[in-house]
Amino acid sequence: MTFIDYVENFTSLEQHEPILFFDEYKTFKISKKESIKILGKKYCKYINEFWTSKQRQSNSIHEISYRACYKPQLPHFFIESFTKPQDIVYDPFSGRGTTIIEASIMDRKVIANDINPLSKILSEPRFFIPDFNELKQKLESISMDYSLKADIDISMFYHRKTEAEIMSLKNYLYKKMESNTEDALDKWIRMIATNRLTGHSSGFFSVYTLPPNQAVSPIRQIKINNRRNQKPEYRNIKERILKKTRSLIRKIDPSLKKQLLKNHKNSLFLTLDARKTRPIPDNSVQLTVTSPPFLDVVQYAQDNWLRCWFNSISAKEIEKKITMSRTIEQWSGIMQKVFNELYRVTKFGGYVAFEVGEVRCGKIKLDEHVLPLGIRSGFNVIAIMINEQNFTKTANIWGIKNNKKGTNSNRIIIFNKV
Ligand SMILES: C[S@@+](CC[C@H](N)C(=O)[O-])C[C@H]1O[C@@H](n2cnc3c(N)ncnc32)[C@H](O)[C@@H]1O
Repeated sequence: MTFIDYVENFTSLEQHEPILFFDEYKTFKISKKESIKILGKKYCKYINEFWTSKQRQSNSIHEISYRACYKPQLPHFFIESFTKPQDIVYDPFSGRGTTIIEASIMDRKVIANDINPLSKILSEPRFFIPDFNELKQKLESISMDYSLKADIDISMFYHRKTEAEIMSLKNYLYKKMESNTEDALDKWIRMIATNRLTGHSSGFFSVYTLPPNQAVSPIRQIKINNRRNQKPEYRNIKERILKKTRSLIRKIDPSLKKQLLKNHKNSLFLTLDARKTRPIPDNSVQLTVTSPPFLDVVQYAQDNWLRCWFNSISAKEIEKKITMSRTIEQWSGIMQKVFNELYRVTKFGGYVAFEVGEVRCGKIKLDEHVLPLGIRSGFNVIAIMINEQNFTKTANIWGIKNNKKGTNSNRIIIFNKV
């Protein structure tokens, strides 16, 4: 009996409410079920609100923004269902590191990969939770040169004095990186400063602008300033780095701090194309939870131009490497290679949970395109899960701003290697 037959029989014979069945301990109620036929075979989509943001408050350490990131509740659900402590959890499109940070909080070993070097900058330091006073001392030791000016015009975002502080920190971090002397505290400071560069509240270094994961162009910022009749006022960057640190680590206790450090020792952080991840051994990963770039919906490099500048990274170079596909055929061709690689690295008995959104107003159902890719690579299909979410603040921004292109539900195709 296949898994799907089992579910069908189980639900009809036992007159149960329809359920999604992973094993005898893991059954989930569903609100709706749809059937689809792919490659001549019937598959089911199981629909419900399987996890919500309220259900389980996530750890504050996740609170670093990134374009098209998912909530920690998503990887949590699959890590809980398919792994045990010290199994390896992998994300080939790691972004801000939601999967790997949640996995480490759940005491799993982790492998992260993302072609965008900002991903590593924003995720790896969170395995090294700083002592607040040591961080304060470190920040105090970094001298500020108020005569410094940026090499590009960023005056529409920053007060002249804030700009000088940003430049002082940028230069300090650059020298540390060049001389290979950047320590965990420096990397923490780099991560927080990168996150605080621009945003819409007084906790950011900039005057009011869009949320921090999408820096607007200088011209657009001038327009925002004119419309709002605003001028950048002075923002002390050291104070803001400390404040954000306090908030980020507020739910980390000493034992979790130790655990994160321990799990980092066994981790791997790669900056490779997800199609070729040679350093990951064959048959080693118990679970992959990931979300790929969806066609050409998000401009990861453009949205991050200021973050790239601060970290002395060329946004143009990254743009060339990031997967952007205009057509579904092109996208499927690339993702087929990603799946072949995922099949290589996945353990026998291991799983892949591949999250995609609805794009082009739901006209393209990426889940239905992903399913045959996994099958062709050798995987077995477990289920398609659709987590229908009530709008949250972030989903709202995503939904309204990108209404035509965006997504408000998570579609996850679950595969295993048998
Ligand atoms: C949807 S985002 C992932 C967000 C992540 N789930 C999170 O919660 O932050 C997709 C990521 O894929 C990365 N990416 C794009 N093309 C890639 C490629 N060919 N190989 C590896 N990473 C790639 C982008 O830089 C981006 O960070």
